[in-house]
Formats: sequence, structure tokens, C-alpha cells
Amino acid sequence: MKELEEKIIQADSLETLEKVRVELFGKKGILSAQFAKMKDVPGPEKKAFAEGLNKNKAALQASFDAHYEVLKAEEIERLLKAEAIDVSLYGTIAHKGALHPVMETMDKIIDYFVALNFAVESGPMVEDDFHNFEALNLPKYHPARDMQDTFYFKDGGLLRTHTSPVQIRTMLERKPPIRMIAPGTVFRRDYDLTHTPMFHQVEGLVVDEKGRVSFANLKSILTDFLQYMFGEVEVRFRPSFFPFTEPSAEVDISCIFCEGKGCRVCSHTGWLEVLGCGIVDPNVFKSVGYEDVSGYAFGLGVERFAMLMHKIPDLRSLFEGDIRLLEQFR
Ligand code: DAH
Repeated sequence: MKELEEKIIQADSLETLEKVRVELFGKKGILSAQFAKMKDVPGPEKKAFAEGLNKNKAALQASFDAHYEVLKAEEIERLLKAEAIDVSLYGTIAHKGALHPVMETMDKIIDYFVALNFAVESGPMVEDDFHNFEALNLPKYHPARDMQDTFYFKDGGLLRTHTSPVQIRTMLERKPPIRMIAPGTVFRRDYDLTHTPMFHQVEGLVVDEKGRVSFANLKSILTDFLQYMFGEVEVRFRPSFFPFTEPSAEVDISCIFCEGKGCRVCSHTGWLEVLGCGIVDPNVFKSVGYEDVSGYAFGLGVERFAMLMHKIPDLRSLFEGDIRLLEQFR
């Protein structure tokens, strides 16, 4: 009996304890064998014999159960240690994405005008001659068409060279008043430090009853817009020419690199040209059938804004998809 109890207590793992269980309590185990001896015990002693065996069995079972609990607790402890997670260890570093600087600049521009109740319009990138040129007061063979090197398709279609055709599409679809911007992708046959064949523009157009839209309105909104984009800069309007506006102006900000003193970026002029604008030419209204209205329009290149805001020297680098460059703008 003592010996059997030793067997139980000496088991040092659940596995050995299980072997001991089979050895003691199993069908062919030691206890079964002892019970089998019952048949040889003379009648009057049977009862005492059986009682003795049962007592032993119960005692062994109790030791077994107690030892099982001890080993089980040890096993759980061991597993917990083995499977423990060190929460102070660094995890895998996840790469954080970010908006492309051009899109980020675009969003900032859109936010400004949306806050002033401009609708955001869009149009197709594959345009036709009418919307991209003709309706914008750029008749065939007009020399101003040379200002924009156009990608043409064989069927006469073209990749839009500016977002101005969205003006035309919006006016053809709606009645005045109109207050819209058109952000979008445009294409020109150009490739150098500051030009890529694909780039982005934001066009703006405001049309209302005749006499309700003035050059002063245009100046005031664009001055405020440019100071929102670039901070405390000076803004100047220079007379210029666009076929779709009359009068037209190009807008400069004081150079943000040298604060107007003159540097390489501003070609020592102290000024950076950032957009074109003007009062909508009556011929444009004629081509969309608008009468007795007045309006102003403007157009800007998003990449130029992004280059200036982030001091990017080569525009082409923005479209090469080099993650090392893009990571700098997170
Ligand atoms: N469409 C012109 C361009 O691509 C930009 C522009 C200038 C748009 C003056 C306008 C405007 O609406 O009034 O160069």
C-alpha cells in the first residue's frame, strides 16, 4: 500500500501519472488483481477483505487526485511561462501611407473654395476641339493655340490641355449664377525641370447677372486665396493675355524663398508667377448661349503650387514613384 502511494507521489509529470493510473486503477491493474483474489477468500472473511480493499482504493484515489491537481497546476504554470507575450517588445513596424504632395496641395486648394461655396465640377480628360479650344474663344488657326502643345488622337479628339473646358461644360448644363472650381488632370507635350506631360490644374469660374461680378471681386478673392496658401506674401496682378478672358492678368506672389530680394528661383525678380485670370470674354458667353451676364475666371497649376510650397527642385521627381522621395512629405 505504501509502495503504491510512493508510485503516485513520485510521478513527476501528468504523463507518468497517467501511466501510474493505468497500472493501479486500470482493468488489468494492481487493484483489479487484488479484488480478483476475493474469490479465494473464505466466506466469513470476504466482507472484511472487501472493506479493506475499498478503503485502500479510496485512499489511493485521494492521493492520486491530490497529486494530479499539483501536477496540473505545475503544467499550467509551465505553459503560461512558455506562451507568455512580452508586451514591452517592439512590434513589426507598419509603414504609414500619406497623400502624394500634389494631391495634398489639391485638397488644400479645394478646401479654400468649397468653404466659399464654390461647387466642385469635373469633365472628361479626353476632350474635343469645341470644348478645349473653340468655345473658349480659340478658333482654329488662332495663334494662341500654339501656347499649348496638344496630344491629338487620330479621330480629332484630344487630351485636354487645361481644365478650362469644364467651364464650358458646366455653363452648357446649367443656368447662371455659377460659382465653381474644376480640379483635374491635364496633358501637354512638355518635359523639363518644371513641366511634365501630365499635370493638374484647378480652374475657377464665377458668373452672375451683368454688373454683379467685377475685377475687384476677382482680385480680392485671389489675394486672400494666395495668402491662405503661401502665408504673408504680397500679391500683384500683371496685365496679360488669355483668349477666354478680357481683360486678363497673371498673378505673382512675392518670392517665398528670398522674400522679394531676388534669388535663383524667382530669376532675381523677387516675384513668382502662380496663376492666370481675368474677366470672362463675351465670346465665351456667346458660345454657351449666356446673355446679360458677367463673370471672372482663373486657372492654376497644382504642381507649381506644390513645388513652391515644398521647395521641390525637379517636378519630374514627383511622378517617378520613388518611395524615398515621397516619404519626405509624410
Ligand atoms: N487655362 C489657362 C492655362 O491652362 C489658365 C487660365 C488662365 C484659366 C486664365 C483661366 C483664366 O480661367 O481666366 O494656362
